Amino acid sequence: MMDLDKLKTTDGLDVAGKRVIVRADLNVPVRDGQVSDATRLERLVPGLRDLAKHGARVIVISHFGRPKGGPDPQHSLKPVADKLGELLGRPVAFAGDCVGEAAERAVAALRPGDIAVLENLRFHKGEEKNDPAFAKQLAALGDIFVNDAFSAAHRAHASTEAIARLLPAYAGPLLMDEIDALAAALEMPRRPTAAVIGGAKVSTKIPVLTNLVAKVDKLIIGGGMANTFLLAEGVEIGKSLAEPDFTKTALEIMHAAKARSCEIILPHDVVVAAKFEAGAPSRTVPTLEAPADQMILDVGPKTVAHYADVLSRCHTLLWNGPLGAFEIAPFGEGTFALARAAAAMTKAGALISVAGGGDTVAALNAAGVTDQFTYVSTAGGAFLEWLEGRTLPGIAALIGSAR
Ligand code: 3PG
Ligand code: MG
Repeated sequence: MMDLDKLKTTDGLDVAGKRVIVRADLNVPVRDGQVSDATRLERLVPGLRDLAKHGARVIVISHFGRPKGGPDPQHSLKPVADKLGELLGRPVAFAGDCVGEAAERAVAALRPGDIAVLENLRFHKGEEKNDPAFAKQLAALGDIFVNDAFSAAHRAHASTEAIARLLPAYAGPLLMDEIDALAAALEMPRRPTAAVIGGAKVSTKIPVLTNLVAKVDKLIIGGGMANTFLLAEGVEIGKSLAEPDFTKTALEIMHAAKARSCEIILPHDVVVAAKFEAGAPSRTVPTLEAPADQMILDVGPKTVAHYADVLSRCHTLLWNGPLGAFEIAPFGEGTFALARAAAAMTKAGALISVAGGGDTVAALNAAGVTDQFTYVSTAGGAFLEWLEGRTLPGIAALIGSAR
């Protein structure tokens, strides 16, 4: 467990005239040169504005996509920088390289209160290698380092790890929000606590499930991975997506849960169809009657009611992963209905609800309840690694930072 109390925040920090390097996560979806979902940028804006307001010379650095360690116009941060400027309501300078002459020139031109974005960090091999020499080049651009990219904190890269050891290093406001929300849900929650874990595969979430059974009181399982648990219990699941090689793992998780007094809850009615296609004829059946020639694609209404009843007796909810194949109608109904129930409980002040992970956010957006959850993380991999109980290198480096 990381000693989060040791994190230094930017509250009250004197940044006037200082060159402040902000590690942001500008890795947003871009289609045809346009940012198609600006959520991550919107969340960065208040923190950046605050630094500028206090007279910092703000230098924003980020990765974008997965270029192969060299310049690649397809992965330029320019359109993202433009969008960020639009959201900030002010011009943002852009440097065509994150180190060297172009970067130095852009930084030298900054007056107090100005903001510049530097080109994609991953155009340099040193970034993903956590290369100290590359980190030194980055660090030379600033006086202070602020990490405001929780969603990249699971990467031990030069801009998240090595650099934090070279400059006075601080946790940014967005990173602190994420940590506070996760701590409220997982480290010191109001009990009883529930986790909803969905998604296609058990195999990708074994460490998450293993960590959670030791932490939460109720573990609600949905999505394709519930099929593997059902299979492990000897239930016939027809043509449903499942991982037969992981039924043993599922059993082990169930045993571990029992030993920890964590109740694992599986669907008792399901929506089945012969094909996974939009508008495919579907019907709801008790789980034990799933037809041999059909596949389970969602949880049924009785299951949703049961899950909602469980949540109504809990005070804290952690949610990762959809309960069904929500991308295709009508197989999102179970996820949407439970999301609405959780949102209503949150609104009534009865539940602290924290959700995260790429698909989860998309599902909550589709249900129209994202704003009603206590906190919805925009992090994918970092959120999962936190749920696994792992130390995130980007955060550990801030804690261990020498100065
Ligand atoms: C994300 O989108 O999950 C983060 O920006 C991390 O990106 P990565 O998986 O390419 O490191
Ligand atoms: Mg990712």
